[in-house]
Amino acid sequence: MMLHVPGVLSPDQVRQMRAALDAAPWTDGRETVGDQGAQVKRNRQLPEQSPVGRELGKTVLAALARNALFFSSALPLRFVPPLFNRYEGGENYGVHVDGAVRAVPGGEQLRTDLSCTLFLCEPEDYDGGELEVIDTYGSHEVKLPAGDLILYPASSLHRVHPVTRGARVCSFFWLQSMVRSDQQRGMLFELDQSIQKLRARLGECEETVALTGHYHNLLRLWSDV
Ligand code: NI
Repeated sequence: MMLHVPGVLSPDQVRQMRAALDAAPWTDGRETVGDQGAQVKRNRQLPEQSPVGRELGKTVLAALARNALFFSSALPLRFVPPLFNRYEGGENYGVHVDGAVRAVPGGEQLRTDLSCTLFLCEPEDYDGGELEVIDTYGSHEVKLPAGDLILYPASSLHRVHPVTRGARVCSFFWLQSMVRSDQQRGMLFELDQSIQKLRARLGECEETVALTGHYHNLLRLWSDV
């Protein structure tokens, strides 16, 4: 399932983040990628140990913790700390798949169920730079307003088109979900959204309580925490 989560960051938060990022030292993006990705990756990133990146990453995770749509769709268990990348002057990232397992600080490892890209620039500020995700339903091109996030299965092939004018600045990260299966997670999300709409229309009633019970019993059956 791919999902657009609007307004993760406010315009003020985006502005502050961009000011910090524009002043930060960027390095070759190939430092954080495996052999296959390194052959097709042409961009720059903040180093994983960058103090600026660490601080901004905490702001991103705090914003996500307050976002009900994100929580309902991702059912996050653990995150790789957010990273930041920048493409300009024709830079791009060819077709690749993200690694299935990543180390997180502290030596633990995390299974990458979902990939996230949080846009920190407006679409009109650059040409190209579309994130293209190729899944079983075809190919989807994504270019979102600043502060918006796209969530997609980390198992999908994807690429970033060349940026031919301006700069594309984003945060990107992975998470392990409480529910490993994309299909089961998608069903839980649809059920949750439908329950919320029913509750808004009818108020709390016997049926919404029963359906909420089913939601939690399915989550109990399918989650791994
Ligand atoms: Ni990727």
